[in-house]
Amino acid sequence: MKVGIIGCGNISETYFNCQKIFNNFEIIACADINTEFANESAEKFNIKAQSVDDILSNKDIDLIINLTIPSAHKEIIINSLKAGKHCFSEKPLAMNTKEGLDILKISNEKNLYVGCAPDTFLGSAGQNARKLIEENKIGKIVLGTFNLMSHGMEHWHPNPDFFFKPGAGPVFDLGVYYITQLINLIGPIKSISSISGTATPERTITSEPRNGEKIIVETPTTLMGSLEFHNSAKIQFFCSWDVWKHKHSTIELYGLEGSMIVPDPNFFSGDILISNKEQDWQTINNDSMLLGIPNKTDNDGSKIANYRGIGLSDMIDAINNQRQARCSLDLAMHVLEVMEGIITSSELNEVYYLKSKPNQPKFLDETEIEKLKV
Ligand SMILES: NC(=O)c1ccc[n+]([C@@H]2O[C@H](COP(=O)([O-])OP(=O)(O)OC[C@H]3O[C@@H](n4cnc5c(N)ncnc54)[C@H](O)[C@@H]3O)[C@@H](O)[C@H]2O)c1
Repeated sequence: MKVGIIGCGNISETYFNCQKIFNNFEIIACADINTEFANESAEKFNIKAQSVDDILSNKDIDLIINLTIPSAHKEIIINSLKAGKHCFSEKPLAMNTKEGLDILKISNEKNLYVGCAPDTFLGSAGQNARKLIEENKIGKIVLGTFNLMSHGMEHWHPNPDFFFKPGAGPVFDLGVYYITQLINLIGPIKSISSISGTATPERTITSEPRNGEKIIVETPTTLMGSLEFHNSAKIQFFCSWDVWKHKHSTIELYGLEGSMIVPDPNFFSGDILISNKEQDWQTINNDSMLLGIPNKTDNDGSKIANYRGIGLSDMIDAINNQRQARCSLDLAMHVLEVMEGIITSSELNEVYYLKSKPNQPKFLDETEIEKLKV
């Protein structure tokens, strides 16, 4: 499938490169509201730079990858659909459920696919954890925790403003990986109870080139609470950009027969720890599975697995075979409602009951991945 990218910022290089990993798409043009960024990317990847309007009316393009900032996601997705193109968007799908419903309506009317990141849950750790749970290795999951805590994003991203505006914050920006992973592992969420806080009303950028500039915080930087799943599992969460250091693990799941620690869902691999009742932890390494093999050097020099693009590749395969994509619009709508529900519950000081209830995305096995890889 011929593909165009809109949004040539920080994450775009990962997407430009993923066409070398997966075999069913080719990126032929790119656009950005800032033409300089589009021109730079076009030159680097030897493709055509176009205006946003021109890429949308480009007859050779069947699908748009939307890598703009969250506040532009809805507009770009809807304009792609109106131009007769499928769209795969970076997360979050939109700023709120109302925007999500507008996308769903046009996607249905046009009979075109919309898919959404994150796709990291399709990595080796997420899929192996899913397999171990389905094999009943820790019994029925009844309880758990997830923790994502750091001191924000203003120390590394060149333009970190959007992280502190509605549509981002720790839940919309990073919680999205944890929530999607948990739905992959234990199914949809039924209700939410949460509280929120903002430790400082202003953040100072310490990354270059805008070192020293201030950002006004417009969305809570800490959210804490609990999620109840349709299978009755209860998961406690702590999402914060107000914490310098901590020693919690990312996701812990407690079953009737044992416990499991799932690695950081922002990554494709990492070790799973599993224990049966009171036995010691056993480490399960996932680096030899297809979407766990290290293929990238991280900022700290360590080798990691980064297979962003598998969600897009799976969606293109789904379009070709008329089946539901794993990173489906139904899943993204539910994740969006959960994220909004976390904020709403904290604002109204009451339990939020979800209206959406998607199916768990289908397990992705190695033979299917093999078919999609170059
Ligand atoms: N940076 C990361 O590591 C990372 C990782 C995973 C997901 N994401 C997600 O990817 C998206 C983009 O993140 P980023 O870090 O690349 O941001 P960025 O600010 O670096 O890049 C966004 C680009 O979109 C362009 N843009 C904004 N509005 C536009 C519009 N209406 N039309 C055309 N172009 C427009 C901007 O000019 C900019 O070049 C976000 O939704 C983010 O949550 C980022």
